[in-house]
Amino acid sequence: MSQFHMTECIRKTKMRQPLTAEEIHAMVTGITDGTVPDYQTAAWLMAVCLNGLSDSETASLTMAMRDSGRVMSWDMLDGPVADKHSTGGVGDKTTLILAPVVAACGVYMPKMSGRGLGHTGGTIDKLESIPGLTTALLPTNFLALVRQAGFAVAMQTGNLAPADKKLYALRDVTETVNSIPLICASIMSKKLATGADHILLDVKVGSGAFMKNDADAAELARLMREAAKADGRECTAVLTDMDRPLGRCIGNALEVREAIEVLRGETGSSLGRLCIALAAEILRMADKGSIEECTKLAEEAIRSGKALQRLAKMIEGQHGDPRVTENLSLLPEAGCSRQISAESSGYVSAMQSEEIGRACVLLGAGRMTKTDKIDPAAGVVLSAEYGDAVQKGDPLLTMYAATEAQLDEAEGKLRAAITVSPEQPPERPLIHAVLSD
Ligand code: URA
Repeated sequence: MSQFHMTECIRKTKMRQPLTAEEIHAMVTGITDGTVPDYQTAAWLMAVCLNGLSDSETASLTMAMRDSGRVMSWDMLDGPVADKHSTGGVGDKTTLILAPVVAACGVYMPKMSGRGLGHTGGTIDKLESIPGLTTALLPTNFLALVRQAGFAVAMQTGNLAPADKKLYALRDVTETVNSIPLICASIMSKKLATGADHILLDVKVGSGAFMKNDADAAELARLMREAAKADGRECTAVLTDMDRPLGRCIGNALEVREAIEVLRGETGSSLGRLCIALAAEILRMADKGSIEECTKLAEEAIRSGKALQRLAKMIEGQHGDPRVTENLSLLPEAGCSRQISAESSGYVSAMQSEEIGRACVLLGAGRMTKTDKIDPAAGVVLSAEYGDAVQKGDPLLTMYAATEAQLDEAEGKLRAAITVSPEQPPERPLIHAVLSD
């Protein structure tokens, strides 16, 4: 390749001319090692945001970002290895349910996860609400834990796709997060570096998600699946509804509680049904049978208690107190709570999940600045879900926080986030589409 000049890359993307794989590779190397200055990277990101990238440019960007750090391999494990990624939502505790279910069915899941971002929660924060539990795992411990419990959840280290760390920080402050090719490369570089053979993507769509409509979510899913395919991985994408929070609990310890309740057998809820459907997709990719057979396997893993045992094993391995799986009162509990009731009779016809997520941040369940400490007990428990009939005075939700002042701050936002209307709203399926081979 002729000598690399970042200005040439910016010019080409600005003029909608394609970049070669070599140019993209050199650019990502320069961004990672700091030889490309932030102002040039930011200019290129804005050009991508405005003009997009072709599919092959997006695939090259994803691979170059994957290779910017450590690429993990799980060849030493004696069974199929799967991974799962959610594009981010409110009340999304599916990993806490899915991972022990598939582990109980003989599929390993070494999971690298992140903390909450904006109004969306993160698996690491949720797990750390379990007394004693740590997610800062050394690679050797991580492997030993995956062998023992079938799954483990570690905090994503800086060594995994470090190019994404730099790019994400710049995107966050240059209004360039919302670009489908950039989101694809960001997510898939980390997923591919994690090294699983089978990848399930839970692409959230709706008011509480990055993708606000089905067309954008389907385009993101298509691009992410292409990137996985180009790297020889099997990938299924499921488009799931985020026009309402997932399940009834939002907030870290509250979500752990709800996940344990599902693993104890309360699978009739929309959350339980979604987790079984997602687990079945993973088991199908791992050659455990047809989708119907895999659904039965997932249900049986819960019914038999084996999935809950896997969760207890993982918690113990990560230095947490496994007795929480039997005794939910060992989870942190908030000092203050307050109920919000319906002001009229009717049906719950809208739940602004982004606003509910933001209210939970005000209650202490998320961060407003990078250094904020999370209150593990804070959050919201919904008493009614989308479509439910309520009478005037019925509880809609309960808020939990450390102080009355936090409850005061969140109350107005939460009242505005839930609409009760006289007419029954149309049914909204939780799964909008499944994209698989
Ligand atoms: N999650 C990521 O990891 N990256 C994005 O760009 C968006 C969501």
